[in-house]
Amino acid sequence: MKVVILEDAAAVAHYGADIFREQLGKKPASVFGLATGSTPLSLYRELIRSNQQGDISFAQVQSFNLDEYMDLAPDHPQSYRHFMNREFFDHIDIDPARTHVPPGNAPNPLTACDEYETAIAAAGGIDIQLLGIGRNGHIGFNEPTSCLSSRTRVKTLTRETIEDNARFFSADEHQPQLSITMGIGTIMEAKLVVLLATGASKAEAIRAMVEGPVAAWCPASALQMHPSTVVIVDEEAASGL
Ligand code: GLP
Repeated sequence: MKVVILEDAAAVAHYGADIFREQLGKKPASVFGLATGSTPLSLYRELIRSNQQGDISFAQVQSFNLDEYMDLAPDHPQSYRHFMNREFFDHIDIDPARTHVPPGNAPNPLTACDEYETAIAAAGGIDIQLLGIGRNGHIGFNEPTSCLSSRTRVKTLTRETIEDNARFFSADEHQPQLSITMGIGTIMEAKLVVLLATGASKAEAIRAMVEGPVAAWCPASALQMHPSTVVIVDEEAASGL
């Protein structure tokens, strides 16, 4: 695990975006694992700018998102599919048919999970998996106590995660308590993992991930066993190290 500590969130986004730009230079038909949340937004904005300036192209890229809420239709404003379209896909030259988000409203979620794994394998596996981290150490929606070899499946969200994400839902809006998420085993198969974290609220999770034991209590700690992970943090998120 390589830990890169930078001054602020803008530097974190820039460093992370450079990894994606370099990868596209080497392999235009790359397979990217993508993440939602507020942390990767600045990185997406950098990549949009580079794409619009003609420096990089996503025309041959395939993407697989980490997770989705259960029972939200893809056009629901709080769905992660909607988030990805609004914040990234609608602004770049990616073929929408090559973008994949777990289908939270699939009639048979168990089959849909298996199909998602099959689609990742058929694409040749993930070249770069982008991750944020929850305050409780979750990656994707793999909450504490998740099996470290888990595959794409349905997961119940913890109270802490529901509360953290409540800011995106209005008071009278249904907030799902179930999700469909790539497993930790799925994430561990990515060739390169790039995890971003900024702000003091992530300091404890970063400490547990980097310096704590490999344990299901901190799902991100599994990345200590991954052969190629880059953790990019600002000084506040690194303050517990
Ligand atoms: C959600 C997502 C995670 C993300 C986390 C942190 O729970 N499922 O993939 O890493 O939030 O979000 P933020 O970057 O907004 O702190």
